[in-house]
Amino acid sequence: MSNQFTDEHWMAQALQLARRGLYSTAPNPRVGCVFVKQNELVTSGWHEYSGGPHAEINAINTAQIETGCDIYITLEPCSHQGKTPPCIDALIALQPERVIVAMQDTNSLVAGEGIEKLHLANINVVCGVLETQARELNCGFVSRFERQRPFVRLKMATSLDGKTALNNGDSQWITGEAARHDVQFLRARSSAILTTAATVLSDDPSLNLRLSAADLEQNIAVRQPVRVVVDSSLRLSGKEKIFKQGGSVWIYTLCDDPSKHQALELAGADITLLDKGGSKQIDLEQMMQHLASREINEVHTECGQSLAGALLQEKLVDELVIYIAPVLLGSRARGAFDLGELTQMKSRIGCKINQIRNIGDDLRITLTPEQN
Ligand SMILES: NC(=O)c1ccc[n+]([C@@H]2O[C@H](COP(=O)([O-])OP(=O)(O)OC[C@H]3O[C@@H](n4cnc5c(N)ncnc54)[C@H](OP(=O)(O)O)[C@@H]3O)[C@@H](O)[C@H]2O)c1
Repeated sequence: MSNQFTDEHWMAQALQLARRGLYSTAPNPRVGCVFVKQNELVTSGWHEYSGGPHAEINAINTAQIETGCDIYITLEPCSHQGKTPPCIDALIALQPERVIVAMQDTNSLVAGEGIEKLHLANINVVCGVLETQARELNCGFVSRFERQRPFVRLKMATSLDGKTALNNGDSQWITGEAARHDVQFLRARSSAILTTAATVLSDDPSLNLRLSAADLEQNIAVRQPVRVVVDSSLRLSGKEKIFKQGGSVWIYTLCDDPSKHQALELAGADITLLDKGGSKQIDLEQMMQHLASREINEVHTECGQSLAGALLQEKLVDELVIYIAPVLLGSRARGAFDLGELTQMKSRIGCKINQIRNIGDDLRITLTPEQN
């Protein structure tokens, strides 16, 4: 007799499928699904792109399905009419034996309603199998609905002595080609790339995605993340490279000068004038909430030491990704995080190391700031 596979085994397969939507489903969640009967896989599917069929429907459409299956889904099935009809009715019609979900949907339009409908249809429901992995995979989607702000990832390229630019502002390039290629995958999974006018004026970066659909192992066109710039006094002119790459540029500002607005809007920028609230700087929390309201799930940040320090101090960094090059830039070069002057060790910001990897000649360290 063959071994009976566990719920975790099948859910791991569903998660593997969900990961295939890593670069393409935003603002929707990445979702995978497998149908199992008598310990055998019947069919499977994943959500490929926003507006396309959900994972469950893709699975149903590719096989003849008998009643009495166990259906494993990485997210509670939807019960509302969105861009596509509710999946829950299609699942109930198949009279499954059990529906096993990794996590309840955090989207207030669903939140428990899909599970409730299954109960009402007398279908057994198991919730919470590999929930941690499912939440991690959809960290941005979960954050947007639970905290009303995106998941914020801060990437820094530093020398061995923790420097991010020379004193004269030159920072191209600290890390090698392999590390810069690796960063492209972090950009690809994000809804937005966040930077500052200071960094754009200093480096004139393109901040675009240069990977192909084949690089991302997907069949659909590559999605360019929105480029978001903090520019409180509208110092950008509209002539910088970020305006010449196609895709959207969103600027957050406190400046209401109509001529500056006009010049940047002509270059294609979408400008949001935030509330000054007596400050000369942008309220970063307010900006993040605004980004969440615009369906931004994951923010990938590439900036200098000032904004990096400010985001950390305001507890707005969920993940730090530091690429460390085996070079020394000396103590007169610029640091990575301007935290002002700390006078007591208890004020330091601790981090938990999640992963260390070699990328070409450089190291990549992924960390969670402990303050979160
Ligand atoms: N190695 C790397 O990974 C890396 C990556 C990017 C850039 N860089 C280098 O970093 C250098 C630029 O660094 P930088 O420190 O001058 O600039 P930055 O950190 O990129 O941006 C500074 C700007 O951020 C905004 N800001 C800072 N603190 C804030 C707060 N508390 N609240 C709201 N907004 C805040 C302000 O924008 P407003 O002035 O508009 O208010 C400020 O001018 C360049 O030389 C660039 O080459 C290095």
